[in-house]
Order: sequence, then structure tokens, then C-alpha cells
Amino acid sequence: MLTVDQLGALRATLGAWRMAGQRVAFVPTMGNLHEGHHSLIRIARERADRVVASVFVNPTQFGPNEDYGRYPRTPEADADGLRAAGCDLLWRPSVETMYPYGVEHTVQVRVPQVTDTLEGAHRPGHFDGVATVVARLFNQVRPDVAVFGRKDYQQLAVIRYLVRDLAFPIEIVGADTRREADGLALSSRNQYLSETERPRAVEIHRCLQWMRQAAQAGEPRAAIEAEAAERLRAAGFEVDYAALRRPDLGLPEDEPGEPARVALIAARLGRTRLIDNLEFDA
Ligand code: PAJ
Repeated sequence: MLTVDQLGALRATLGAWRMAGQRVAFVPTMGNLHEGHHSLIRIARERADRVVASVFVNPTQFGPNEDYGRYPRTPEADADGLRAAGCDLLWRPSVETMYPYGVEHTVQVRVPQVTDTLEGAHRPGHFDGVATVVARLFNQVRPDVAVFGRKDYQQLAVIRYLVRDLAFPIEIVGADTRREADGLALSSRNQYLSETERPRAVEIHRCLQWMRQAAQAGEPRAAIEAEAAERLRAAGFEVDYAALRRPDLGLPEDEPGEPARVALIAARLGRTRLIDNLEFDA
């Protein structure tokens, strides 16, 4: 596996691969990689001749009170894991390489259809940062296919709109969420959970399953959302949202005859903010 931190070197390697007619798959990450990320690399591996991963902790997608400074950085373990999962090239730019004119002086990409609801409502500017950095990464790597986790359901929706509206010639693949044995979705933030919080964190997944069951039993959406939030509060969470939506988050929510088919939760346990979701046929 090659590790590259200069744009010139990245372009030279990718140019040679393209000249040889090789198909390139791309997996963008912020590092501190776990089995969820590795599964994306393996999916990328199946879909292309070459796999590129990026590790870049993107400052523009963190709010002023979020964990940019203390976001875990584990470069050696990340490189080992990527190599073992079958990655060919690790793109690891510095903040200066990614934003050479400074963060404030960079063109912003905004995806209004899905940016201001759910996660976006609780993390203002977050998806603008994600859309901007992913557009930049796509232009640097110019992949044929890019793989994103469905764990970050709304992020995947942002990326799909980004690619559609800016006509990026890139196939977007959504990957299933990898979980711990008890159902907790793997996340870099799980390590912040204390010993007493960790067993309680599974309540998010249980609550999503309860929401699915209630929706399939025909209970009204508003009642399900209210009771789900109540269940989480009873388990000690502070709830940002517990929502039932149509799978395309950019479409109106209450279209008659359209049953909701994704449940989404964001909630805090102590200092740790967890998100998860569950798609289903209503
Ligand atoms: P990061 O949080 O590092 O996640 C990188 C990719 O891994 C995302 O597509 C995410 O959905 C996926 N992922 C995370 N946990 C997963 C799990 N348990 N199972 C399967 N996939 C999982 O998401 C970002 O970074 C950033 O916002 C980024 C897109 C890189 C832009 O900065």
C-alpha cells in the first residue's frame, strides 16, 4: 500500500492506473478505523481494480463545541488495517493541502434538499462541511465508484444529491452497518462510553427495532416518534431526535399513501453522541 500526502504524487499514481484502464474505488474516512470502515474497503475491493482510501479529519464539518480537537487520531493502526483490508493507496492530506487558501476562503458546497433537517438541524453547518470536503476529495481522486456507510444515513443522502446535482460521474454504493454482538453500531465514538454507559448504549438499536414494529403495526408516525423519545429518555439518554422518514430524506415526509421506511435516532449518553438508523418495509 502506498501512502501519499501530496496532491502531485496522488495524481501521478492515479493517472498511471487510469492509463492502464484500471477502475478506481474510493472510501473517504476520518481515520480511527474499525471493522465498519474495513468492510467498506472490502466492498470497494470487489468493485474495482484499485482501492483508494482517504484519512482526513475535516475541520469544517465539526461545530465549535464538537470534538475536532479530541477526535481520535491513530495513523499507524489505520494504515495497518487498511493494508490488511486490501487498500492500494492511502491519501492522507494535511489541513493545508486540503484547504491551501484557508478554510474561510474555500468554495462551499451546500446540498439544501437534505441539509437542514435531523442531523443538520442539530449540527448547523455540518453537512456543508461534509459536502465541501467530499466534493474536493472526489475531484482529487476522481474515482469510478465510492463507498459510504448507511450508518450515516443522512450523509449518504447528501452525497447522492451532491453527485446527482454536480454531475460527478461516480457510482455511489451504500454499505450495511457493522455492529457489536449486542447490536450497537460500530463507531469511533463508542470508546468514549464509560463502563456503565456501554451496556445501556444498545437501547438505541432496540428502540429502532421497536419503531419498526410499531410502524408495521400501523401506529401513527407522531405517536411512534414521541414514544421512542420517551423510551430513550427513560434509559438515560438526552434525545436529539427519534424520527420516522421516507428513505429519500429529500422528499416531503407526509405524502399520502407513502409509509415511512427508515427510523433514525441521535441521542447522547453522558458526553457521547450516538446515531443509528434502521431501514424497513412498512
Ligand atoms: P467517518 O466517520 O470516518 O466514516 C467513514 C465511512 O465509514 C462513512 O461512510 C461511514 O458511514 C462509514 N461507517 C462508519 N461506521 C460504520 C459502521 N459501523 N458500519 C459501516 N460503515 C460505517 O463519515 C465520515 O468519516 C466523514 O463525514 C467523511 C465522509 C469522510 C467526510 O469527512
